Amino acid sequence: DPGPLPKEPDDDDDASAATAAALPGDARRRLRWYQGTWVARVCVPGVVAIRQGSFAPRRGDVVLASPHKCGTTWLKALAFATMARGAYPPAGAGHPLLRLNPHDCVPFMEMLFADGSAGSRKMGALPSPRLMATHMHHAILPASISNNPDCKIVYICRNPKDMLVSLWHFTRRVQPDLAFSDVFEHACEGVSFSGPIWDHVLGYWNASKESPETVLFLRYEEILLDPAGNVRRLARFVGQPLSPAEEAAGVAEDIARLCSFEALRGLEVNTAAGSGSLLFPNGAYFRRGQAGDWANHMTPEMARRLDAVMEEKLRGSGLSF
Ligand code: A3P
Repeated sequence: DPGPLPKEPDDDDDASAATAAALPGDARRRLRWYQGTWVARVCVPGVVAIRQGSFAPRRGDVVLASPHKCGTTWLKALAFATMARGAYPPAGAGHPLLRLNPHDCVPFMEMLFADGSAGSRKMGALPSPRLMATHMHHAILPASISNNPDCKIVYICRNPKDMLVSLWHFTRRVQPDLAFSDVFEHACEGVSFSGPIWDHVLGYWNASKESPETVLFLRYEEILLDPAGNVRRLARFVGQPLSPAEEAAGVAEDIARLCSFEALRGLEVNTAAGSGSLLFPNGAYFRRGQAGDWANHMTPEMARRLDAVMEEKLRGSGLSF
């Protein structure tokens, strides 16, 4: 338990307390209803600090945003390899991604800022253009990110059915008796990490429509189909398009290969016992790496139900799964 949490003056404590009280015990410990979004409890202090101005923007910042279990690790690897390719050629034997987990290359903002002033110092020490990540909903980002033409946001989402299966497998590492049906039921009610899922995707979807030059909306399944093509998109979007010489040398393909599920999963840094955090070893971020695993965990009726919820919530937005 992270202990007492800092308060934000406009935090809706009553609604939060009422909703949290209705949660089953374990979710109550792990999640907090914050400004209309479900936030991992350990991240709340960092989120509050970011919103209260601890984050000092810098020209060229790139923020990777995602709901939990939608390909964050992959996007971190792809964006890092793409943006750092000048210093670290993706086919080079000394590439940092060969000895570091992607989460060690690109920090989560809310985790950094949960550390108080040490977090601000670490963020300030990142080389420009800075690359960082968040699970925050678009609605609760500070204006220094969401309304800043000098800050780019790359968003990744995924079919919510696969997200929930991935989330269940991940959470079971710390809660082995967790039933998939519980994760599913709560998510359909809007209660999950990064929940409500529909609000998370809609916030970034709408932002990408309003401002395509500052918000790039990616889907896990699209990257699976064409990793190198999406590396090119990413490179163009962050203002570092591949040069003709890089195209001729196959740099996009090299980055896609370096960051592929098979390549990253097999590395010692991602397999060794004792790697990663106490709760989640690095290997926990590489499970199956495919689309469609939901069919092995959901009945057709469950799938229809979640599809219907998503369809209703996303109606009129132009977005569908
Ligand atoms: P599965 O559990 O379906 O396998 P996150 O990084 O947001 O926590 O998401 C984790 C999901 O992304 C897991 O999905 C994981 O296996 C998958 N993943 C991690 N690295 C990947 C990669 N390089 N390529 C494709 N999928 C990857």
